[in-house]
Amino acid sequence: MKIPSVKGFHDVLPGESARWARLESTAREIFERYNFGEIRLPIVERSELFRRSVGETTDIVEKEMYTFSDRDGSDLTLRPEGTASAVRAYVEHAMQGVDPVTKLYYFGPMFRRERPQKGRLRQFSQIGAEVIGRDDPAVDAEVLVMLADLLRGFGIESAEIGVNTLGCAECRPGYREALVAWGESRLDERCADCQRRLRQNPMRLLDCKQPQCVGMRDEAPKMIDHACAACRNHFDRVLRLCDAEGVALTMQPYMVRGLDYYCRTAFEVVASGLGSQNAVGGGGRYDGLVQSLGGPAVAGIGFALGVERLALVLEAQGAAATTAVPEFFVAPLGEAAESAAFGLTHRLRVAGARVEMDSGSRSLKSQMRRAGKLDVPYVIILGEDEVAGGSITVRDMRARTDRRGIAPIDTDVETLRAALAAVATTAAAEERV
Ligand code: HAM
Repeated sequence: MKIPSVKGFHDVLPGESARWARLESTAREIFERYNFGEIRLPIVERSELFRRSVGETTDIVEKEMYTFSDRDGSDLTLRPEGTASAVRAYVEHAMQGVDPVTKLYYFGPMFRRERPQKGRLRQFSQIGAEVIGRDDPAVDAEVLVMLADLLRGFGIESAEIGVNTLGCAECRPGYREALVAWGESRLDERCADCQRRLRQNPMRLLDCKQPQCVGMRDEAPKMIDHACAACRNHFDRVLRLCDAEGVALTMQPYMVRGLDYYCRTAFEVVASGLGSQNAVGGGGRYDGLVQSLGGPAVAGIGFALGVERLALVLEAQGAAATTAVPEFFVAPLGEAAESAAFGLTHRLRVAGARVEMDSGSRSLKSQMRRAGKLDVPYVIILGEDEVAGGSITVRDMRARTDRRGIAPIDTDVETLRAALAAVATTAAAEERV
């Protein structure tokens, strides 16, 4: 009986994983240009870390975490996001002692028990970045400009970055009061979650996905109208610096993000081709978080992009997943040829060529069929005659020609490539004549 994978947990197969690898290598290159260093974080953390950072009354903590009791009774959770772990690591290793500005990036799986659908999984992968140590608006702008560079680097054409300010300890309480008053005005029309969360966490009213609550949102008070002078100045400076670099930002006055640690600048990236799960990334400032997790009173800001969603956007844009094609396919015929082929294949691979070898017990016809399916340009044939003569025959699969004795069996990859190139040049010259 087959054992299927778990709902919401997917395999990423070779063609698709090549796309992921390209996204990650582009991200790595851009992060390094901005002087970020990679951090590899554990997948399991103490549950308390997420309760205290993401927030007790968020969807993630209330209903989506994979929490379990370890055999020794410790309360552990599969991380639902990376920021809490990055900050935990920052505090644990006192990273402020190395440089007052710590810039970290990470890749890896996150776990949230959401209802699976297109672009929404229970295990998904993020590309994330965090800057800890400065509350300067230039840092927000640096992060947003880097985010725009990443999206351009990935070749995502339709992305839009929405921004909002979420205020600070000074001005947020006044806004909360305004939100509570607004929430109470039509309380019985709201969903049960919003009714329950109204007093504890009124910001959550703004990102509720229930249709009746979404419908009421346009009449809600806006944070920007309640922001203190310091928050307004901060936000204006971020917008101006981004504008000067040609990074387009769209004001989203009701965007609050689904995690509680944010303050001031918050942003979300949306792109077409995703259906209802259209956020490919999100982030923002979290100035109180480091201290609340036992660290120094330093500010932080960062974002994370969802790799599955980035890949879906690229697919919707028509970018096909590509499967890598071997340069050579080695086809031995019989046991003696197989031994020689084994050595030749290994030598070519050590020299850096991508090579596939079949088994000597299979017919030439079946090996050729397989090589054709793989779209390999050259098949190296090693039969009894080749082994006796000490040289190889190469079939050029495009030109449909066989070149007997083109190189010795113990050839190195350069000699082989040079011989094939010389044959191709002669063939082209013959065609011209
Ligand atoms: P987030 O908005 O919860 O932020 O997640 C960031 C991105 O992860 C989303 O925009 C989406 O692309 C992807 N994502 C989230 N949940 C799922 C899911 N169930 N299936 C597929 N993709 C998903 C954070 O996680 C913050 N830690 C970002 C951050 C970093 N803020 C500051 N620093």
